[in-house]
Amino acid sequence: MAQSFDYGFVIRCSCTLSFTLGLFVLMPVMLNLFSSPLSPSFSINIFDDQAFNMTTRTNLTIHFGLKLKNKNSAIGLHYPDQLNITFSYFPNVSMIVSLAYYNLDGFYQGNGKGRLVRDVVETSSFPGVLEGTDFIAFRVDLVATYKYKLAGSKRHKVELGCVVGVNVTNGTKIQMGFNRLVEPGLDSKLKKVEYNSY
Ligand SMILES: *[C@@H]1O[C@H](CO)[C@@H](O)[C@H](O)[C@H]1NC(C)=O
Ligand SMILES: *[C@@H]1O[C@H](CO)[C@@H](O)[C@H](O)[C@H]1NC(C)=O
Ligand SMILES: *[C@@H]1O[C@H](CO)[C@@H](O)[C@H](O)[C@H]1NC(C)=O
Ligand SMILES: *[C@@H]1O[C@H](CO)[C@@H](O)[C@H](O)[C@H]1NC(C)=O
Ligand SMILES: *[C@@H]1O[C@H](CO)[C@@H](O)[C@H](O)[C@H]1NC(C)=O
Ligand SMILES: *[C@@H]1O[C@H](CO)[C@@H](O)[C@H](O)[C@H]1NC(C)=O
Repeated sequence: MAQSFDYGFVIRCSCTLSFTLGLFVLMPVMLNLFSSPLSPSFSINIFDDQAFNMTTRTNLTIHFGLKLKNKNSAIGLHYPDQLNITFSYFPNVSMIVSLAYYNLDGFYQGNGKGRLVRDVVETSSFPGVLEGTDFIAFRVDLVATYKYKLAGSKRHKVELGCVVGVNVTNGTKIQMGFNRLVEPGLDSKLKKVEYNSY
């Protein structure tokens, strides 16, 4: 039995296996390491599964889901500093008013990993509609830093945001689901008003 063992077959198999490993496992890893790493992506869903009641003009509780995604399949990410999120609204097109702040402790995010943070924030005042419209224009801003788990990686800073409208006539969000946080436009350069300092 032992003499009939086909070593040639074993060698062919191992060659095919290492070729396959090289092509499908190591190649993407090498490509990832030698191409420039991708910055993480962030998106938010405010008033997720939450009825928006305009008749109670008290401080709001904003339920939200925040998604943080490391888009690199072969590089880990550190968020070395606390991530800071500000919830605000626009009373008119020339002003932005802060409503609530939220912090998330820095953490490590492995290769290709996503994280969903679900939480609530209490606002310090009640937002009004955007002047001349029937909706509240909420703005979410995020400030974060991240470092790739690569030798010599520098700390990168991002300041991203999005606007989410809520129709006050029927309490429905204008854009449903998660909104991608992107490089802020002109709106973020508006004068900021702090009604409450923390
Ligand atoms: C909104 O809140 C008021 C006061 O608490 C309540 O009477 C009303 O039924 C609520 N409306 C909805 C749609 O939940
Ligand atoms: C915008 O709204 C704020 C707060 O309500 C108000 O103080 C300001 O005068 C308004 N600006 C304009 C141009 O309407
Ligand atoms: C709303 O929040 C502010 C600031 O935290 C607080 O002073 C005020 O009492 C709150 N109002 C209500 C109705 O909870
Ligand atoms: C968030 O705020 C804290 C406290 O002010 C600060 O130490 C931290 O550096 C901020 N994070 C970022 C990414 O700027
Ligand atoms: C808000 O909802 C009302 C009632 O459904 C609708 O008539 C109006 O056009 C909506 N406004 C916006 C800005 O979507
Ligand atoms: C509210 O109004 C918007 C725009 O008219 C509409 O798309 C949405 O279905 C309405 N939502 C409810 C709960 O009636």
